[in-house]
Amino acid sequence: MNDRGDRGDRGEERAAALRARLGGIGYGGDYNPEQWPEEVWAEDVRLMAEAGVNLVSLGIFSWARVQPDPETFDWGWLDRVMDLLADGGIAVCLATMTASPPPWLARLHPETLPVRPDGSVLWPGARQHFTPSSEVYRDHATRLVERLATRYARHPALAAWHVGNEYGCHVSASYGEVDAVAFRGWLRRRYGTIDALNEAWSTTFWSQRYAAWDEITPPRQAPTFPNPAQRIDFRRFSSDALLECFLAEKEVLRRVTPDVPVTTNFVPLRDTLDLHAWARHEDVVSYDSYPDPADPGAHVAAAFAFDLLRSLKGGAPWLLLEQAPAAVNWRRVNRPKAPGQMRLWSWQAVGRGADAVMFFQWRASAGGAEKYHSAMVPHAGTGTRTFAEVRELGRELAAVPDLAGTRVRAPVALVLDWPSWWGLEQDSHPSALLRQQEANLAHYAPLFAAGVACDVVHPSAEVSGYRLVVVPNLYMITERDAANLAGYVRGGGHLLVSFFSGVADDRDRVHPGGAPGPLADVLGLRVAEFWPLAKDEHVEIEEAEPGWLGSGFGGVAHGSLWSEEVRLDAASPLATFASGVLAGRPAAARNRHGTGIAYYLATRPDPAAMASILARICREAGAAPDLPDLPEGAESVVRHAADGTRFAIVLNHNDKPVTVPLPPGGVDPRDGTDVVPPYRLDARGVLVVRYPA
Ligand code: GLA
Repeated sequence: MNDRGDRGDRGEERAAALRARLGGIGYGGDYNPEQWPEEVWAEDVRLMAEAGVNLVSLGIFSWARVQPDPETFDWGWLDRVMDLLADGGIAVCLATMTASPPPWLARLHPETLPVRPDGSVLWPGARQHFTPSSEVYRDHATRLVERLATRYARHPALAAWHVGNEYGCHVSASYGEVDAVAFRGWLRRRYGTIDALNEAWSTTFWSQRYAAWDEITPPRQAPTFPNPAQRIDFRRFSSDALLECFLAEKEVLRRVTPDVPVTTNFVPLRDTLDLHAWARHEDVVSYDSYPDPADPGAHVAAAFAFDLLRSLKGGAPWLLLEQAPAAVNWRRVNRPKAPGQMRLWSWQAVGRGADAVMFFQWRASAGGAEKYHSAMVPHAGTGTRTFAEVRELGRELAAVPDLAGTRVRAPVALVLDWPSWWGLEQDSHPSALLRQQEANLAHYAPLFAAGVACDVVHPSAEVSGYRLVVVPNLYMITERDAANLAGYVRGGGHLLVSFFSGVADDRDRVHPGGAPGPLADVLGLRVAEFWPLAKDEHVEIEEAEPGWLGSGFGGVAHGSLWSEEVRLDAASPLATFASGVLAGRPAAARNRHGTGIAYYLATRPDPAAMASILARICREAGAAPDLPDLPEGAESVVRHAADGTRFAIVLNHNDKPVTVPLPPGGVDPRDGTDVVPPYRLDARGVLVVRYPA
């Protein structure tokens, strides 16, 4: 279903129109005026102007207010809010309101409610209580969207559409009867015949062979490990089912308002939706980012997500649609962002390609489950640190309008694939300790620390423009994607692959000959046996080629998580295991293939060794940082304008000041002053430097 994307569908044009409309970086937040008496609205708009707000996401949870029963619509209040915002010069990203159906939908149609694997029902009373496969839900949703779009199609405040809200955030899959029927339909389209499905799912195993489509169910609670291929297909189906909800609404919006850009806010990075499949259907992708201020490494994972967002549409700018101004309310202990941290993390998103910085939410709720979530206007009002920081950031962002639309140029690509992620983290594997995001970050963190920009791409992506391609843990790979990566190396590319990659095909069947399957030739090796390591277990590794593990370890480092018996064919060893049963066998290898080089890691080297290894490979591949020699805890990214102007965004994540090396000739666009040495950054400080073409 979802291979018909929107390429050539004027998506970029619509995104550019939004940019022109905003006249720079978007700034604002979720606006929920229905939670407040009407007198407050005028004050809201006045304060928005004071805070530099130029964009709000409106009406995300307004369905029950707008349609109190199936036949009644109440638009009057929303008309007044839209008018007020238009008068205040504030653009609206208008929500389609379908993320939380009104209580009457469940009363009239209980079959719209989602069901868990054990058969229990998720009842109304919170939000997102619908199964995406329900035609009844989709019909009601699209009827609402039709009225909404028609009503506001020509309203001057309307700038973009915000479809649903965080699809899959609470309910990413439903296992009921409605879902079983839809799943069977999806499987019929995928496989055509029941025999093809039996083959793909390896159902001769454990007597699972299906004789008829009606025998197939979602992978519900079962006595032991459910069929792995069935589970992966159910993940694909569930991502597609939510996507169909999005597409059904988008189809209405396109028909009624063909020029208005469409987006939906993705949840903080996780394994639920296949974002590669989704992104091509949006005019601009957008994201909600909630790093934990209590986690000192949170900004690295945040950067990874931002780089992914940017890469989803080939480097096009994206929108940070939500973040917390200070604390959230949904962790066990909710620490606010430290002074300056909200600004720092906002600029981090901008540095990595965001063209909007938005918050959840504008005014703190007095009641409901999110009343202790921070907001741009806190309960304590505008005389607060939070509001002061919000106002200051709005002023700063408004001073750099020409940043919008500029692009990051990355010499490195890291490969990520959602179905492979689903496959990797299933049970009944050699180790339950392998986690996709851990693998991603183990490879990404050294690049981040060195300031080497990195895109995050699908395994089928055109990668010939990158200096280095990193494959942290691509458990499932098709022959075709493997050929893509092999061709890249043959043509002169550098490829780094870590263990437990290329093991299975897209039906979760082990490739002939085992790991690394169709990557064996390019890597010049085969894996004979996996020896996963226990939690906290380590093996020693020592370099086979002098200097390969870097200086400072005496040529010895540690591996964790995994080890394996590797048999080298064309590859030569770079490091060997120095302890345990595999002592003396290869732990890392290099293979020259065509005019390029492929590297392989058979364990997870400790972070210091990973940093040396990646630094060395980057050097060999010619993947350089934009700004070299950054002090620890500093970050820098460069955004490039079409006319050759460059913007360096330099951030200090430390609690103490640092001095950063910068090329001369830059101007601070926020006040027009020359940026002169020493380039000092306060604790959690931000430097923005424009270099003319
Ligand atoms: C998500 C939702 C918002 C809100 C925030 C709170 O991002 O989209 O509606 O619940 O979380 O952090």
